[in-house]
Amino acid sequence: MTERPPPPPGGRPPHDFDAIYAEGTPPWDIGRPQPAFGALAEAGELAGRVLDAGCGTGEHALLAAALGHDAVGVDLSVRAIELAQAKAGERGVAARFVVADALRLADLGERFDTVFDCGLFHVFDDDERVDYVRSLADVVPPGGRCHLLCFSDRQPGDWGPRRVRQDEIRTAFSGAWRVESIDAAVIDLTWDTAGAQAWLVRATRAEGPSGRASDRPPVG
Ligand SMILES: C[S@@+](CC[C@H](N)C(=O)[O-])C[C@H]1O[C@@H](n2cnc3c(N)ncnc32)[C@H](O)[C@@H]1O
Repeated sequence: MTERPPPPPGGRPPHDFDAIYAEGTPPWDIGRPQPAFGALAEAGELAGRVLDAGCGTGEHALLAAALGHDAVGVDLSVRAIELAQAKAGERGVAARFVVADALRLADLGERFDTVFDCGLFHVFDDDERVDYVRSLADVVPPGGRCHLLCFSDRQPGDWGPRRVRQDEIRTAFSGAWRVESIDAAVIDLTWDTAGAQAWLVRATRAEGPSGRASDRPPVG
């Protein structure tokens, strides 16, 4: 039997991500796009301007930019954004990377047709998930797509992020989004060749407002 390395970090609040990136290469930072997102790109599923939300060191924004898309990666971690910018420079790829809060994407003043989220949704608590999905809706016009990879409840053990059930995804994305599909997938990891069991979610921005209370007409 192969001895496993100690459990990877996870479940820590977002402000700790800088410390995680400073400590070394985190388990999700595999140095290439996740195969599930690579397959989407190969299948021609990327359209228009691409946002990589919680981009980490930027592999998915870099993937999109290398295919000719105007691509922006945002992350709260200054360290992660510095690493992503360095990669873009080394590879000669024109992706942009910005330190920003994915819960306040409207502050970017930009619009996106395609969103990649690998591993961001699953770090949020229940309330933040609702805010995050609304924040995405603020910057994605109707018809835009969100492709999301998160840990699934099929993943055994309790290390790392919270496991996510399909019904939790459908609840979070109800309103301003239409969930088109949720498929079993894998998130590759640095420390385990089996990776982690994941859900690959495809959601389309529906017509209508983002779902914020401020969008609703006053009552009375
Ligand atoms: C599990 S990592 C995934 C990183 C990257 N998507 C990847 O696949 O390598 C989650 C990322 O979300 C970022 N993050 C957490 N909360 C955030 C927030 N509110 N806004 C933007 N980024 C956030 C973290 O700094 C971290 O880089």
